[in-house]
Amino acid sequence: MAETFYITTPIYYVNDVPHIGHAYTTIAADVLARYHRTCGRDVHFLTGTDEHGQKIAQAAQEQNLEPIELADRVVEGFRQLWRKLQISNDDFIRTSQPRHEKQMTQIITKLIERDEIYLGHYEGWYSVTQEQFVNDTEAAEHDYKCAVSGKPLQRVKEANYFFRLSRYGDRLLDHLDKHKDFVKPQARFNEVYSRVKEGLRDLAISRPSLDWGIRMPNDPGHTIYVWVDALCNYITALNYTDQADKWRYWPADFQFIGKDILWFHAVIWPCLLMALDVELPRCVFAHGWWTHDGQKMSKSLGNFVDPAEYLDTYGPDAFRYFLLREVPFGRDGDFSDESFLRRYNTELGNDVGNLLSRTTNMIERYCQGKVPKRGQITADENALEKTGRELADHVDRALAECKFHTALEAILGLAAAANRYIDATEPFKLAKQSDSASRERLETVLYHCAEAVRLLSVFLSPFMPASMEKVWQQLCWEQAGQMSLDESGRWGALPSGTVVRKGPPLFPRMDKK
Ligand code: MSP
Repeated sequence: MAETFYITTPIYYVNDVPHIGHAYTTIAADVLARYHRTCGRDVHFLTGTDEHGQKIAQAAQEQNLEPIELADRVVEGFRQLWRKLQISNDDFIRTSQPRHEKQMTQIITKLIERDEIYLGHYEGWYSVTQEQFVNDTEAAEHDYKCAVSGKPLQRVKEANYFFRLSRYGDRLLDHLDKHKDFVKPQARFNEVYSRVKEGLRDLAISRPSLDWGIRMPNDPGHTIYVWVDALCNYITALNYTDQADKWRYWPADFQFIGKDILWFHAVIWPCLLMALDVELPRCVFAHGWWTHDGQKMSKSLGNFVDPAEYLDTYGPDAFRYFLLREVPFGRDGDFSDESFLRRYNTELGNDVGNLLSRTTNMIERYCQGKVPKRGQITADENALEKTGRELADHVDRALAECKFHTALEAILGLAAAANRYIDATEPFKLAKQSDSASRERLETVLYHCAEAVRLLSVFLSPFMPASMEKVWQQLCWEQAGQMSLDESGRWGALPSGTVVRKGPPLFPRMDKK
């Protein structure tokens, strides 16, 4: 049986339309899911929407809608964007679905039976935008405003059911000591570690005055706190309570999140799992945040980067590429049209696109559109082949650590090497000679160009699936999608005689958006 690989994104709130932040995590997860599929793994890629809670109830009320009506609308927008971005998720969970609600009831019942939940009282601050209880010190530090959204905190005084989070501090520390990869990147691990060391407090996990949620099974006057409801999606989507079939994917290999929701995923989530006696995920990876032209994106500034704008002009792949190339996953980054366009024109247009068109052009003109033989190789070919042969390893190592930018750097390194190789070997000059040695040399050179393009396309395809399909059409390479990376990622897999058909430029030059 194939090794499983389970990757998740956060489930997104349905109070508003998707933006670059949602797209970022989802694209990164998609790349990894696609990559592991090409490696032959049994991949499960989950995304979805977080639909309950005060924030959604308020947004619906402002628009004179029932929360579920708002959710239905916004979910459609998410699904559409994921289709356009070529997201290959295997499942899409909505917390309003009966499959989730039913299991949540069972999960809470189990926690009650295990004495993990008790009735208590909360008096303090609450951030509706983050759906988060905020302690007094933190509230005062941020002038009683939400540290993430800047919106005023709410004062609440209510009876709640509490989860005995404080029981799990030592066990979590022990887990962190033994699993240094549990939280990535390292700086986030350290942050979590030192906060857990200060001790954990029990967590309110129900809201008494909120209707839009799943009822507490022991007390229908309360709904389950939205974060507990949301976190459990990662296991309810696998039918946790049946533990059949899809349960084989647990524990998750990677749970991708943004840095603002680290506490929930790296502390509350594992403690809930421990209380349920469920194995912990292998890695929670927190990425950084994007700013736009150096500014934080916010509703009031109206400066959210809308992925749809870029998709319409450039297609899905340039956007996918840019987000993962521009910033190391885990760091903050800035989005600007200038840097987007620069990478688009130079790296995609010149390095990748031109390499393909130069190669297919020459093979059509000089070799009747068929990939020639490899022939006798020289130091130039040796160097190019070496770069090609080392690529699989470089990419694999980088992706094992979610270093998307490093993987792309290595892949684009092959494009650069191939372009340099063409400049050094000057096949267009060789084509003008009539002797047989030059002819043979020309064929060897063009074989190497075609093979470099093919190999490049194999490793770029998880990042830019739509464009690489086009490359495969130009190379008339029908089995491309079905081959395992073991075969297709090896230098030399391109048979001579393959028909090549030139196509339109992959990434036509653009001057502005
Ligand atoms: N519903 C919760 C997650 C529950 S998961 C059990 C939630 N949803 S969200 O829609 O507000 O945010 C989803 C993700 O978008 C978070 O990971 C967050 O970090 C990310 N981003 C929001 N703004 C962002 C940027 N400006 N840049 C990068 N990512 C950002 O939180």
